Amino acid sequence: MPARQIYISGELVPESEAKISIFDSAVMLGDTVTESTRTFRHQPFKLEQHIDRLYKSLKVTRIDPGHSPAEMLQISRDVLEANLPLLGPEDDCWLVHNISRGISVAGADPTKQVSPATIMIFTSFLDLRDWAEFYSTGCHAVTAMSRAVPAQALDPRIKNRSRMAYTLAEAEVKLVDPAAQGILLDIHGNVAENKGANVFLVSEGEIRTPTTANALAGISRSTIFELAKTSGIPIREMDLQTYDLYTADEIFFTSTPYCIMPATKFNGLVVGDGAVGPITQQLLAAWSELVGMDIVGQGRQQLVGSRQ
Ligand SMILES: Cc1ncc(COP(=O)(O)O)c(C=O)c1O
Repeated sequence: MPARQIYISGELVPESEAKISIFDSAVMLGDTVTESTRTFRHQPFKLEQHIDRLYKSLKVTRIDPGHSPAEMLQISRDVLEANLPLLGPEDDCWLVHNISRGISVAGADPTKQVSPATIMIFTSFLDLRDWAEFYSTGCHAVTAMSRAVPAQALDPRIKNRSRMAYTLAEAEVKLVDPAAQGILLDIHGNVAENKGANVFLVSEGEIRTPTTANALAGISRSTIFELAKTSGIPIREMDLQTYDLYTADEIFFTSTPYCIMPATKFNGLVVGDGAVGPITQQLLAAWSELVGMDIVGQGRQQLVGSRQ
């Protein structure tokens, strides 16, 4: 099996040679912006949109990547192409970008970029086994005790690697149910997001989701808006509280790896009739059609494979 090829600041190197300094601002400060794209049938999905969001994050964080978006797009395609031979015909992969400000110098000004940005791009096998069961059973969504970092401190639209707040919140959720998936509320008690996903509900035949005032502008989230439009399902952004989740007919999360993850229990109470709802199923089917692949089938296949 050939070695995975990782891109580090200008070079494609085998994984064993892909190293960064312990003084990198990624390590010292968690000063890193990020993107995660997935493939469907080995083709990257909405890579241009991911690169666009990456460059918005870079601009707001004042990190100079030293490449234009067009160059970054080409580099990303090259990394993917170099690693496609590692994938089985039924497999897909992540394409992950992490870009830090480079070497961090202790002192008065952490924003000083004293070296080129550290650009790390890699692919990895898209392992769906943690989520695949939920396509049919739905997951248990649980609100964390901790609140989302307020946008006034860190705008959630900056997709970044400073993940401590998300990780601690998820640890609280796992105390309630080790298989639960977290929902963060903001400091006003409005529904925000999951550590790696946007949250949606269905009520009165309408899809509802929080605005991006307290959540990442997910690429999967925008796909739901497109699919709802083409499927003729009303959809709206609005402030939502836990009451809305308790009384919803359907709840689902959206994120790049699994696309849609239904939730059939919320804080211990059954959502709707307890089954994965018709609108969630319709959206999953529409998404599969969009990408020419059975999304649920791929996840199930991995589960079957791992049981053999
Ligand atoms: C905090 C957060 N919210 C939402 C999402 C979903 O975004 P996307 O659909 O672009 O994967 C992510 C993705 O990693 C995330 O980190």
